[in-house]
Amino acid sequence: MTKKEVLARIAELKKEHNAIILAHNYQIADVQDVADFVGDSLELSQKAATLKEKVIVFCGVHFMAETAKMLSPEKMVLLPEKNAGCPMADMITAAELQEWKKNYPGKKVICYVNSSAEVKAESDLCCTSSNALRVVEAVNDEVVLFVPDKNLAHYAARQTKKKIIPWNGYCYVHNNIHLEHVEQKRRQYPQAEIWAHPECRPEVIDRVDKVFSTGQMVKEAARTSASQVIIGTEVEIIHRLQKINPRVEFIPLKETALCSDMKKINLLSVLNALEKARYQVEIPADIREKALTAIEKMISI
Ligand code: 13P
Ligand code: SF4
Repeated sequence: MTKKEVLARIAELKKEHNAIILAHNYQIADVQDVADFVGDSLELSQKAATLKEKVIVFCGVHFMAETAKMLSPEKMVLLPEKNAGCPMADMITAAELQEWKKNYPGKKVICYVNSSAEVKAESDLCCTSSNALRVVEAVNDEVVLFVPDKNLAHYAARQTKKKIIPWNGYCYVHNNIHLEHVEQKRRQYPQAEIWAHPECRPEVIDRVDKVFSTGQMVKEAARTSASQVIIGTEVEIIHRLQKINPRVEFIPLKETALCSDMKKINLLSVLNALEKARYQVEIPADIREKALTAIEKMISI
């Protein structure tokens, strides 16, 4: 099939099944372009809950599709590639969290949305990269536990008086962006602004101009007065930023900052998802109920 034929068939199947396509900012350009909505992980899950369509093809990684399913259990949520996961989310299991919590009796656990439904179910509150600090501040205790991202925990810790005890997880894509990348780009583009995601290492955060979640980058891209911006996150977001503001030159902080799980989905897997109703995301009711409490507390904050 040619690309044109694949796109035409996807459009046909969407109508036939009353389906809609959501894509994360890190998806390949073709998938971003075929999607009805592109956004960050929480935006997409919240969007899913407001849509009238009954079938959601969620082009992202597993925890994102799970969050969408938890917020709209009556819909069919399809993740086009079964093995599209998040290695950081896999750095802590519910059993490990249960054991770890025993060392800190009575302390509240905040879990980054990049975590499994089971880990969310074992946590008190959920957060995203854009609201981690607000969620930490909302906890009525001076000490909080934070899983799984140590870099996001560190970023929140530098802005609060509370003590944050982090789990030792990280995102390999962001953790592999180093100070040398920032210094090299500063030399190469002395006029440019540098933005980084809070999943980056503390020494990188120290040297960039602004720290934004992917959703915040998208908003800032539309209104920035800079003519060149260096982007310190997964490179595929540049496709989205460039579309939003063609006047600005967006340059990757590290050209090889690629999340291989995000790259597993392509137009053919989207087509297969629609044709074969696969892969359906299911969450046991008891896990959903507990995990949803942590997510809803975050939404209320
Ligand atoms: P956002 O929540 O900003 O979309 O980021 C998700 C993610 O996986 C970052 O690596
Ligand atoms: Fe997970 Fe990192 Fe990929 Fe985001 S970029 S989905 S945190 S591995």
